[in-house]
Amino acid sequence: MFAVLSFAGTQLLCTTLSVKEYVQNEFQKVEEQVILGNKQLFPFPITLDDFFWAFGILRSRAFSRGGIQNLMLVPFADLANHSVKVTTEDHIHEIGGPAGLFSWDLLFSFQSPLKLKAGDQFLIQYGLNKSNADMAIGYGFIEPNSARDAFTLTLEISKTDDFYGDKLDIAESNGLGETADFDIKLGQSLPPSLFPYLRLVALGGTDNFLIESISGNAVWNLLELPVSRANEELICKVVRDSCRSALSGYHTTIEEDEKLMKEGNLSSRLQIAVGVRAGEKKVLQQLDDIFRERELELDELEYYQERRLKDLDLVGEPK
Ligand SMILES: *[C@@H]1O[C@H](CO)[C@@H](O)[C@H](O)[C@H]1NC(C)=O
Ligand SMILES: *[C@@H]1O[C@H](CO)[C@@H](O)[C@H](O)[C@H]1NC(C)=O
Ligand SMILES: *[C@@H]1O[C@H](CO)[C@@H](O)[C@H](O)[C@H]1NC(C)=O
Repeated sequence: MFAVLSFAGTQLLCTTLSVKEYVQNEFQKVEEQVILGNKQLFPFPITLDDFFWAFGILRSRAFSRGGIQNLMLVPFADLANHSVKVTTEDHIHEIGGPAGLFSWDLLFSFQSPLKLKAGDQFLIQYGLNKSNADMAIGYGFIEPNSARDAFTLTLEISKTDDFYGDKLDIAESNGLGETADFDIKLGQSLPPSLFPYLRLVALGGTDNFLIESISGNAVWNLLELPVSRANEELICKVVRDSCRSALSGYHTTIEEDEKLMKEGNLSSRLQIAVGVRAGEKKVLQQLDDIFRERELELDELEYYQERRLKDLDLVGEPK
């Protein structure tokens, strides 16, 4: 049996706690290495709360160039607000080389994708791919937009698997690793590599011959389609068990959350928390539905051996 990791509780809560822990550790380092030896440089003693404030400001204002390692703070540009009406990310550009009256090495340019009249607010898109949990942590608000409801499914190849090494090789040659995160989004199709990875992780028993007899990428291609009834049944069972166990970890139902949001008297923090947890549950529910339907189709699916026989039949067909 294989394990689905980090499925307990609200993901937003887990992420928030790990961000807090990270910031606390960073503060300790900064305090030891910078603050304590240079107290005279600071107008007032810097506390952990101040550091949290600074981290929050940085996180919500910085622009990133290809990932968290490349943050930039751009004064003035950092004031731009987000709008759901902006449906492209193609409006923020860096322009290299001397430009215009002042010779900068680099210009940061915004182009409004929305038509603006004088006096209108200039609005940008903070990230189309960000989930509501990302929005909550990064910016302190969420959108009532179901495309931002998401849940991250983390899967892993068990170290105790007899074919651990082979499975890891196959995963790695397809850009995945010993553990893999799959962002499941409400109303959108599942990530394309989810099924092959699930089938790979669950491969066992008599299906293991595939790993022994077929090499490299051919195995991955084969995993894109159902391998055997036992394998497909196992992936359905594991995903459904995990969804149901995760759903039972929430203290409220989707209906209760929706009622709370409708009543409309939630504080802004509670509104975020309830919105995100309702979204997570909807995604889990959707995932469970997909795999429940799959379970009902197990007898009708075509598996590796049948596909192979078909191929052989075709080859051997009399002229
Ligand atoms: C962004 O929104 C806030 C809150 O509504 C507002 O106070 C601020 O002026 C806006 N910023 C810009 C640059 O328009
Ligand atoms: C958003 O996600 C899609 C699909 O997951 C991906 O193809 C695209 O590159 C992502 N865009 C950005 C800006 O990260
Ligand atoms: C919101 O209003 C309802 C009914 O008016 C009340 O029962 C509930 O306690 C209120 N919730 C909060 C968070 O104030």
